Amino acid sequence: MSYAGQNEQSAQRKKRRVPDILARKGAVPVKALTCYDATFARLLEKSDIDVVLVGDSLGHVMQGGDSTITVTADDVAYHTRCVARALRTPLLVADVPFGSAGLIDNRLFEDVEKLMRAGAEAVKIEGASAEICSQIRRLTTHGIPVMGHIGLVPQSVHALGGYRVQGKSDEARERLLAEAQRLVEAGCFAIVLELVDEQTARYVTSNCPVPTIGIGAGNSCDGQILVLQDMLGMNLDFKPKFLKHFAELENVITNALSAYCSEVAERTFPAGKNNERQ
Ligand code: KIV
Repeated sequence: MSYAGQNEQSAQRKKRRVPDILARKGAVPVKALTCYDATFARLLEKSDIDVVLVGDSLGHVMQGGDSTITVTADDVAYHTRCVARALRTPLLVADVPFGSAGLIDNRLFEDVEKLMRAGAEAVKIEGASAEICSQIRRLTTHGIPVMGHIGLVPQSVHALGGYRVQGKSDEARERLLAEAQRLVEAGCFAIVLELVDEQTARYVTSNCPVPTIGIGAGNSCDGQILVLQDMLGMNLDFKPKFLKHFAELENVITNALSAYCSEVAERTFPAGKNNERQ
């Protein structure tokens, strides 16, 4: 059995590359989701998703932590390698983890090297300070595509005082636009707007020459991204306002587990002649 994602549908679809995503500004919305493993990557390959992000949200989804701060570049590289084995068509982006960008110069470049060698085709970096933008500029100048990320930046959750909607005041709105413009000048090909006031997201989107990709930022962004396990409803207790459960896999999976437990206990599985006791 192979987990490789090549199939009839993906053979017919065109590989998404950075210029394709840039060209979607103000046009067809960019469809993005996170992914952390080969099993789901194989399924994404059967969909029309444009961008797959190996997000540091793996700290919650894969590692069971309560923030993204504990996630390392080795963690992201490991999951990027798993996804890259089964993904062909979408653009594969890997998250630069906490403690990398803006702080220690060499750390960022070493971490980005790890992520690109693991199979990433671009990296995503949180924040837009002058230091971060000058590091982004160095990366983009050297041919490494960077996706920016502003608004609620989870790696700074302690400084932001929690997971709160950003950009509500006029001043905050202008600050977010200035951040987006700095990221564009640094060479970012797209910018994630996370938990941003809807009007502000519309304002930033209409004044930004590269696609904005929203999560909890309304529907005027140039694209949308969600955490895969969240939108599939694998944890129905987790339902922030902006999230839609497109399925309720928690119920599907727990029903299957109960059926398996009952059938094993009752010796109705496996069925047939293997079922007879020796
Ligand atoms: O880590 C992540 O999954 C993200 C997306 C939610 C944008 O940063």
